[in-house]
Amino acid sequence: MATAVLVSGTGTILEAILGAEVPVGVVVADRPCRGLVVAARGGVETVLVDRAEHGGFSPSFDREAYSASLADALEQRGVDLVCMAGFGTVLAASFFERFEGRVLNTHPSLLPAFRGWHAVRDALAAGVTTTGCTVHVATAELDEGPILSQEPVEVRDDDDEATLHERIKAVERRLYPLTILLVRAALARGDEPASLARPEAKD
Ligand code: GRF
Repeated sequence: MATAVLVSGTGTILEAILGAEVPVGVVVADRPCRGLVVAARGGVETVLVDRAEHGGFSPSFDREAYSASLADALEQRGVDLVCMAGFGTVLAASFFERFEGRVLNTHPSLLPAFRGWHAVRDALAAGVTTTGCTVHVATAELDEGPILSQEPVEVRDDDDEATLHERIKAVERRLYPLTILLVRAALARGDEPASLARPEAKD
């Protein structure tokens, strides 16, 4: 069985995952991006399941068909754990049904605070003094699902979105690979990823 990483952007978290020697079987992107270059350089199979073939970023984007193509590509490769690492497409509920409990995500806030695409900007706008990152089991609801690990990051007076996000990503690059390795160990024991969630976060 294999671990897949899904990327859309610069792939620096993917780089950290590969650097931590997580056994990654395939890297899939939804658009041409540096993440695919990182994967190829690491000798990992790359697949582009391009949004452009399903309506791209237009209102006619066919989320259902896209999600089915992506799930097919992963199933064909025997993937049993899907790790989103800066993946920019919201997938249909059908995808999460096919990989139930086996999709992980890293998010740049202390969930449940600041869900959504602009978590770092929103934390700054809210004036919080601490934010952070969260690794969780992903579900059809955006940035929901059992929390596996979290770490706080201090907000500095002179932070802008870029500096704060970079400091959060530095933590994600350590926390996400470690959490993925713990999840892989749980799967090897026959346990589901959510079994690693904090007891109060399981419901
Ligand atoms: C990370 O902050 C992740 O939490 C968010 O996108 C960022 C990905 O960074 N979803 P990179 O493309 O791996 O540098």
